[in-house]
Amino acid sequence: MHHDLTLALPTLMGLEETLADEARELGLSEVTPGRRVVTARGNLELLYRANLELRTAVRVLVTLDTFKVTHEQSLYDRLRATNWRPYLAPEGSLFVDVVDPGRWFRNTHFIAQLTKDAIVDQFRDKYGTRPSVDKRQPDMRIHLRIAGEGEVTLSLDSSGDGLHRRGYRRRTGEAPINEVLAAGMLGIAGYRGEQPFVDPMCGSGTLLAEAALIATRRAPGLLRSFGFERWPDFDRATWATIRQAALDRIRPAPQPILGADIDGVAVAISRATFDRCGVLPQVTLVESSFADLRPPQGTEGGLMVTNPPYEMRLQTGDIEGLYQEIGDNLKTHWAGYTAWLISANSAAVKRVGLRTTRKVPLMNGPVEARFCRYDMYTGSAS
Ligand SMILES: C[S@@+](CC[C@H](N)C(=O)[O-])C[C@H]1O[C@@H](n2cnc3c(N)ncnc32)[C@H](O)[C@@H]1O
Repeated sequence: MHHDLTLALPTLMGLEETLADEARELGLSEVTPGRRVVTARGNLELLYRANLELRTAVRVLVTLDTFKVTHEQSLYDRLRATNWRPYLAPEGSLFVDVVDPGRWFRNTHFIAQLTKDAIVDQFRDKYGTRPSVDKRQPDMRIHLRIAGEGEVTLSLDSSGDGLHRRGYRRRTGEAPINEVLAAGMLGIAGYRGEQPFVDPMCGSGTLLAEAALIATRRAPGLLRSFGFERWPDFDRATWATIRQAALDRIRPAPQPILGADIDGVAVAISRATFDRCGVLPQVTLVESSFADLRPPQGTEGGLMVTNPPYEMRLQTGDIEGLYQEIGDNLKTHWAGYTAWLISANSAAVKRVGLRTTRKVPLMNGPVEARFCRYDMYTGSAS
């Protein structure tokens, strides 16, 4: 595993272009967006950096081999003939993820078992001892995709836990947004940390945390570890240099970051999150309703990205009324701002009553949502 690696970066629907931009900026070559994935090439250093620094990748896979199989035995034979020793020690542990087993293969579980057997049998033959299976923290995580008529892509998962696990969350509020989705929304909104940023309905603070990481140039993976750190050829010195370079890039946020929520518990959860991220001094956080919130003092415009509730719990009020209030507040108090709202409630979104200048379909977990942009011009009412 060394100089020229083929990488596959799975991502969420709608974030492919944002991730491709990030991948190019990182220095990866042959960057090609696909459907919920970006493929690229790079060396070992870029593999490490991709895990540490990419904000919109779900994981980083290293493609080892692609081949076609006609039946299960041919899959077993091919996997058994692959030399696994560079990636796994005989006393190590492994886990196999299978995606899309293809229509004539039996099932995901069976293919995972077969793959594990092929690898374990190879080690037993060669070394007289065999790796174990560990679902939680395996030394090597294999990713097998079987598309169409038995077209296999065999990859190593270099990330371990999904990259949305930044390591800054302990508690969440209700319906927290996925960290990768939050970073992707900021990418779509064009946020680079150079303008005032506001989330007036911040919940557990995911959008603010991701914005503050961008504004302070903190790599999203600084608080966690990665699968590749358990590989036999892990290059500790290169990794230490990369981490240090990432730490050296950290700067104070150049513009205000303001968060609010009507719920004091949400504000407390957000505060603890920002503290773990190391960005607490960079964020102003208040317990307030959106109606009472005003732009940070001394700023003339900026970016707002927010995720209002999609529905109200019984007896707490009227959701369409809330969206109408959001529109009224934007018009009255937020001149010069560009506001982006993500919502799955299209009836409520209509009540915002402002002209949508862009509408991007995204998935918020299993829920189809729209990410809508509104521009509040100075001196005009919508
Ligand atoms: C869907 S949650 C936001 C989740 C957030 N994006 C996260 O990742 O945790 C919506 C939030 O809006 C807050 N909220 C509801 N009505 C509000 C209002 N009028 N003003 C401010 N916040 C409000 C709720 O307390 C809730 O925390």
